[in-house]
Amino acid sequence: MKTEQQTQFKTAFEQEVYEGLTTFPKKVSSKWFYDKKGDKLFQQIMELPEYYLTGCEYEIIDTHKQEITKLFQEQAGFDLIELGAGDGKKTKILLEKFASEGINFTYKPIDISQNMLDELKNAINHKWPQIDIKPEQGSYFDVLKDLGNRDTDRKMVIMVLGSNIGNLTHPQAVDFLVNIRKTMRSGDLLFMGLDQKKNPELVLSAYNDSQGITEAFNKNLLHRINEELESDFDTNQFKHWPVYDPETGTAKSFLVSTQDQKVTIKKLNLEINFTAWESIHTEISQKYDDNIVEWLSKEAGLEILAQYSDKHNRFTDYVFKVR
Ligand SMILES: C[S@@+](CC[C@H](N)C(=O)[O-])C[C@H]1O[C@@H](n2cnc3c(N)ncnc32)[C@H](O)[C@@H]1O
Repeated sequence: MKTEQQTQFKTAFEQEVYEGLTTFPKKVSSKWFYDKKGDKLFQQIMELPEYYLTGCEYEIIDTHKQEITKLFQEQAGFDLIELGAGDGKKTKILLEKFASEGINFTYKPIDISQNMLDELKNAINHKWPQIDIKPEQGSYFDVLKDLGNRDTDRKMVIMVLGSNIGNLTHPQAVDFLVNIRKTMRSGDLLFMGLDQKKNPELVLSAYNDSQGITEAFNKNLLHRINEELESDFDTNQFKHWPVYDPETGTAKSFLVSTQDQKVTIKKLNLEINFTAWESIHTEISQKYDDNIVEWLSKEAGLEILAQYSDKHNRFTDYVFKVR
């Protein structure tokens, strides 16, 4: 049950929390995990033995950096635009190579977290002061609109690492890719890392690590709502619950209320009732195979130009061009 409110939303966060917690079944997007604490937790997740994604993609980029550089490089220079860059852990392999070889490029990391962008810019300025970096804070879809109107004919390479697109359902992913394709011209590239279907045990443990860091990451959403929207979620009364469906390749994370409870969100003038074992869906982490990626790219008007996998075939980075 909800108490209706007339408040105008001041931020997208307020609006999405309000709408997500007053709908059935309840849901809040994983993009709101990433405040300062969430950013730190995700950096810890990337170091976990269970979270194979980072190590696999690191191996791919490190192994194939020569070929990747050849694909990206352009006499007149190129603009590297990274959507959801995070701390750039894997991108830095390429940045280092480009910088040391004096390659003509600019780097535009885009992220919803200003904190992460500040850290990334400081790290790059410190290590490679010669790199021209222009971070931009915003959500993917908003930023893509601006990219479509850019007034340069330099080659553009868009990067989406870490299987970020896996946070979208297939229809949302097609929409996202169509929006990317609309910004691309002939010669531009999309370089995108996608986590592959694999042993369900491996997938599930990536979202249910033994140290409880992923649990803390998931529950950070409730802490963030408490802090920014003045609410009284008791995170001990919610259970972190990841699941994986090997048929659809969809991993999902939930927060499950362990009892009947009422939560007040002062800034939204809202009271939310939870019945025992009711869930909030917080994250989707879609897994792919070549057939699905082929289908997605066709739907979006893209074509696969090259692909690279790690030695265990757990993760693949695909290079797309306009079809
Ligand atoms: C799972 S992390 C991956 C970071 C990086 N791509 C990597 O592979 O290490 C996702 C990143 O995307 C950002 N992000 C998530 N949803 C976003 C959105 N809708 N728009 C822009 N950035 C987003 C987060 O702030 C976070 O830094």
